Amino acid sequence: MSRKRTVVLISGRGSNMTALIAAASDPSYPAEIVGVISDRANAAGLGIAQSRGIATKVVQRADHPSKDAYDAAVDAALAGFGADIVALAGYMRILGRGLVEKWQGRMVNIHPALLPAFKGLDTHARAIRAGVRIHGCSVHFVTPEMDDGPIIAQAAVPVMVGDNEDTLAARVLKVEHRLYPLALGLVAEGKASMEKGHTVLAHFADDADNASSVVMAPDPLREETDLEQLARITP
Ligand code: GRF
Repeated sequence: MSRKRTVVLISGRGSNMTALIAAASDPSYPAEIVGVISDRANAAGLGIAQSRGIATKVVQRADHPSKDAYDAAVDAALAGFGADIVALAGYMRILGRGLVEKWQGRMVNIHPALLPAFKGLDTHARAIRAGVRIHGCSVHFVTPEMDDGPIIAQAAVPVMVGDNEDTLAARVLKVEHRLYPLALGLVAEGKASMEKGHTVLAHFADDADNASSVVMAPDPLREETDLEQLARITP
């Protein structure tokens, strides 16, 4: 099986990108990371990618006269890398409809919330304000509407008493780093595909590992002490 050539789009830290690069360093992983594109020249992730021997390219909005011209430059960079799949990982721009539709079914994103809840920014602060007991992250196919595409896989974490935005973000980020490689793997293997606006998952009956990868709940959720925390029992 040929590995799917995957390009990661970032804007900053690049910890999810790093998790994808690490997963793809296993030759049996169905995707290889062939390039990283950033819209910011100072994105920390660029240095990490380079240190792992991955080619990088900066495509900045300010260097292009219009949004369409910017999108065309991103598309040209993707073509330059020979991309089969595009993985957005902390990429802070909304790509235009034309580009997204061209890549539909082959472009995925990770969002730090259990979609369709908490689309957009500041998801962890909003989850705490809303008082949800369970939060998490989602990997989804990208469609023109922001954070709206069909869900491929999700991971849940508890919201603990005393959590603040940072502690909750850190707990979610940890599972992001496990979920994204799993979800990209499913897409690269053709086990998750987008059809008529929905995610179609291949039959997993003979593949127990993948069957459990579409939803992940960390062990603490199964422990009674944490369930008490979840319920926020007050004396
Ligand atoms: C992650 O929380 C991701 O879900 C969101 O932006 C953050 C990017 O972090 N889209 P990193 O750059 O992958 O470290």
